[in-house]
Amino acid sequence: MRTQTIFDDGVRRWVVFGRDPSRAQQVIDTNQYLVLHEGKGMLLDPGGVEIFPPYVAALTAEVALSDVESIFASHQDPDVISSLSLWRAVRPEVLCYASWCWTGFIAHFGGGHAPIPIPDEGGPLPLGSSRDLRSIPAHYCHSSGNLHVWDPRAKILFSGDMGAALVPNGAPLFVEDFAEHIKYMEGFHKRWMPSNRAKNAWVKRVRALNPELIAPQHGSIFRGADVGRFLDWMEGLQVGSAVP
Ligand SMILES: [Fe+2]
Ligand SMILES: [Fe+2]
Repeated sequence: MRTQTIFDDGVRRWVVFGRDPSRAQQVIDTNQYLVLHEGKGMLLDPGGVEIFPPYVAALTAEVALSDVESIFASHQDPDVISSLSLWRAVRPEVLCYASWCWTGFIAHFGGGHAPIPIPDEGGPLPLGSSRDLRSIPAHYCHSSGNLHVWDPRAKILFSGDMGAALVPNGAPLFVEDFAEHIKYMEGFHKRWMPSNRAKNAWVKRVRALNPELIAPQHGSIFRGADVGRFLDWMEGLQVGSAVP
């Protein structure tokens, strides 16, 4: 599994794991993110059961499991959090956070362990001594109870399935040609995003944050001018429109 640091200021570090060439081809490709603050770790959408073995091997090259404090699940999907019971087996003290909508459902993945419920307005995600990371609302983008993570220090938005792209094997980690990239994400957003109203509210909320990176759970990361290009494209897209 490929590992790459996408932000590091000596205190806070973001690492992305993905593009596993040995991944079973029937399993959708996912990006797993590790946020580190002074060596303490939070896993964002740690993924499914299928990718747990390569992920835990790659992760432990970056952080000891005993320093992984928490897991954040953007929503309830199996590609997001079906590995929960395995993480709890190797790190029983780990905290899991998710929207209140899904705690009782995700408990089916957690060996009966229910995540800590996050209210609709989002809230702080403490990590080590830091208190600036927070979850923000992204409801109906695409799940009815959906949250993203905003890091004001790194200016990174973890955007779950918003900005997701079904890219071919070997696709670059960062978007390199936005016009070319559209074809990998257009069908996904038209089908899996149900609400234009919710999508437009999300675009407005994210523009106000002014992120330098938008980091989705699938596909390539948007940075620099491609952040604005993506938000403009998203604003103009009619979602919930892929069924005739
Ligand atoms: Fe999803
Ligand atoms: Fe997903």
